[in-house]
Amino acid sequence: MDRIIVSGGARLVGEVQVSGSKNATLALMAAALLGEGETVLRNVPRLRDVDGMLQILAALGARAEWDAHDPNTLRILGDTVDRPEAPYDLVRRMRASFMVLGPLLARFGRGRVSEPGGCAIGVRPVDQHLKGLEALGAKIELSHGYVEASSERLHGARVAFDVCTVNGTQNVMMAACLADGETVLENAAREPEVIELAAVLTKMGARIEGAGTARVVVEGVSRLRGVEHAVSGDRIEAGTLLAAGVVTRGDVRVRGIDASVMQATIEKLRETGAEIELEQEGIRARAFDAPRGLDAVTAPYPGFATDMQSQLMAVLTVANGSSIVTETVFENRFMHVPELLRLGADISVSGRTAHVRGVPRLMGAPVMATDLRASAGLIVAALAAEGETEVNRVYHIDRGYERIEEKLRSLGARIRRVQGTGQEA
Ligand code: EPU
Repeated sequence: MDRIIVSGGARLVGEVQVSGSKNATLALMAAALLGEGETVLRNVPRLRDVDGMLQILAALGARAEWDAHDPNTLRILGDTVDRPEAPYDLVRRMRASFMVLGPLLARFGRGRVSEPGGCAIGVRPVDQHLKGLEALGAKIELSHGYVEASSERLHGARVAFDVCTVNGTQNVMMAACLADGETVLENAAREPEVIELAAVLTKMGARIEGAGTARVVVEGVSRLRGVEHAVSGDRIEAGTLLAAGVVTRGDVRVRGIDASVMQATIEKLRETGAEIELEQEGIRARAFDAPRGLDAVTAPYPGFATDMQSQLMAVLTVANGSSIVTETVFENRFMHVPELLRLGADISVSGRTAHVRGVPRLMGAPVMATDLRASAGLIVAALAAEGETEVNRVYHIDRGYERIEEKLRSLGARIRRVQGTGQEA
């Protein structure tokens, strides 16, 4: 298994390009199943999760392949789907793949998708996805760990989500595009990835209003067509790189990101005392002193993103003063805390709240993470720690960050990957 070795203490300075958004890409790959003809996605990040979704599409019988000339362009043809079944072995590794259910049902009348099961950050049920699809007229059966959904033709309905769910909103919105009549989604997720999906579905021929608000209205159409689209920048990758700049008291510019989709992160980084400037095509973060402690509560968009929680906490470990970080979205998203303690951080957790007392310095140590964003937080902390930190189980980071060590190295970080074989990569 690969490891990432960080020799902390280097001030990060420079400019770096943000990759395409992982979570926007995953939803768009599912949406491509709805269109007749080929969908071409550009600016797609090369990530393990994207590969996982490619495997699912291939298992369904769709043609999905990387463009021969551009390594970040994907070509997807849903017309050839002939086995509308997503197997356990693939779905359990990447639960976003559950989003193929809505499109399969809407276009092919049936879908059989494994229940994803729990994951490291929480139970993460899919009841709201199913509630929405059922309201649209799907017959849903749970059998042997699989969700089997079928329907002659879906019909419009009012769906009031009990919890705000990003992939649930996306799944049901995709299905509603090919239903008869009007669907109203209440308490819909407002994340930028929902807006981007709605924009692409609209290009495909769908009729959607209100994406980005809590009430989305979809007027069903009889067919959708494949389109071309360039995926927008990844707001969580951008936030992670800015946090790395701040924790090292550096001067980091991220390019290829729309600052308006990361207001809450920008506000929190400003509260640490960092200077954040919004520029034409990106964001610049400069920090001159130790960060200041602050309080942060994660919440659905436009609140502070749960996907940025561990990286912000890493910054706060070396703050002047104390901080309180409250996680409200997932019930088990403090797995980075015991590892941060190994680096010398002073944090106590009670339920969903972490109390972080800033320490003057962290010290490198071997650490290990159990999910993607926890690993990102550990790398941010390692960049500030004295001496060497070895981050194990790097495959988590490869799920969601494209060439993270190269990008950080280009900013001056002393970071390298060691392959499972012991060879430097
Ligand atoms: N929930 C339910 N029932 C459902 C669906 C969700 O109770 O049917 C609960 C979840 O258990 C959770 C809350 O609702 O407590 C919010 O979960 P949500 O459904 O919004 O999460 P998701 O759509 O499965 C996406 C991102 C996550 C990100 C969350 C929250 C993708 C592929 N994943 O997950 O990204 O943390 O929204 O913003 O879009 C990551 O990138 O590291 C990541 C985990």
